[in-house]
Amino acid sequence: MRKIISPKKSIRSLKPYTAVNSFALIKKKPRQEPHKLDWNEATLPPSPRVFRAFKRYLSQPHHLNWYPDPECIALRRELARYTGRDESEILVTNGSDAALDLIARTYLDDDDEVIIAAPAYSHFTLFARSCDAMIKEVYYENPFKKEVDKIINAITPNTRMVYIINPNNPTGVLYTIDEVIAILKKAANAIVVVDEAYYEYTMRSATPLLSDFTNLIITRSFSKALSLAGARIGYIISHTENIKNLMRLHNIKSVNTLAQVAALAALQDTDYLYAYLDAVKKAKHYVHVELQRMGIEHVITPSNFILVKVKNPRHIEQELATQGVYVRDRSMVPQLNGYLRLNIGTPKQMKKVIEIFKKVIS
Ligand SMILES: Cc1ncc(COP(=O)(O)O)c(C=O)c1O
Repeated sequence: MRKIISPKKSIRSLKPYTAVNSFALIKKKPRQEPHKLDWNEATLPPSPRVFRAFKRYLSQPHHLNWYPDPECIALRRELARYTGRDESEILVTNGSDAALDLIARTYLDDDDEVIIAAPAYSHFTLFARSCDAMIKEVYYENPFKKEVDKIINAITPNTRMVYIINPNNPTGVLYTIDEVIAILKKAANAIVVVDEAYYEYTMRSATPLLSDFTNLIITRSFSKALSLAGARIGYIISHTENIKNLMRLHNIKSVNTLAQVAALAALQDTDYLYAYLDAVKKAKHYVHVELQRMGIEHVITPSNFILVKVKNPRHIEQELATQGVYVRDRSMVPQLNGYLRLNIGTPKQMKKVIEIFKKVIS
């Protein structure tokens, strides 16, 4: 039998994700220190507490032979403290990607209308498409200048879901709490997903709105400021009843034990987190000044990444890669033609990157 069975209708039109550079491959290339700045990860490993927690955990007589704690009890307790919300309002997931996928699959039926403030993180669109939802992308005249009225006007009584990222990836647009309230009010019959994957870089959250708006679902990630992209862990914060609904479909074994151990330890080391946030802030300022000096058009976002406009983005991306600096050409994203996206690490790392960038661009 050699017949390939085709996937279901809603999947046939989707294109497989074009992967960025994997660190395993980058490491194989003979050169000094590579700078992987293409996927918005943290550029430093997680807190040393994480390694100590792994060691402690693995030195017990039983550990990985058991399934993970399905309720993530210890981690949810710590997250309740970190978010200022109740444990019953928190659901831990296998990365925030799994949170977005779960939200889409829990709420979206065929032809349900989903409003997305665009350009946006493409995975959510993909998850909504796989549910056969009808996507309405709302673009601003200038992608870096928000026009919240455009989102509000796009919401109708038929809207089932609204997705905004705050601050947005890839544009860095940051919505105020009042703007989020206006969206929640207009979308009274819909779920409003606020993706806070980059929350730590702004410390601006919609969590205080959870008590008043039962249609609000917030997603967060340990992959960005908390340096745990490789562990795959994220979480949802929402009204307890929404959490219960999401748990109808949530795979309770999907958050692996080591990820739970790592996330708990990382959350407990806020000094390490704040030191990293401070380093990124300083490095962003340094990069901004250097790019300005070079006369290069760029957009500094409130997150841990920036966009740089160049004449030949594909060529520059490749040249930088040969020098060990991995960035991402975002030209195929509507409105972002010519922009390279790169994440910002520490001032020391970015000094090296700017040196290399100067050579490549000249
Ligand atoms: C806006 C946004 N949401 C979610 C994610 C996924 O994060 P995670 O690693 O937690 O799945 C990303 C990753 O780049 C992102 O940019």
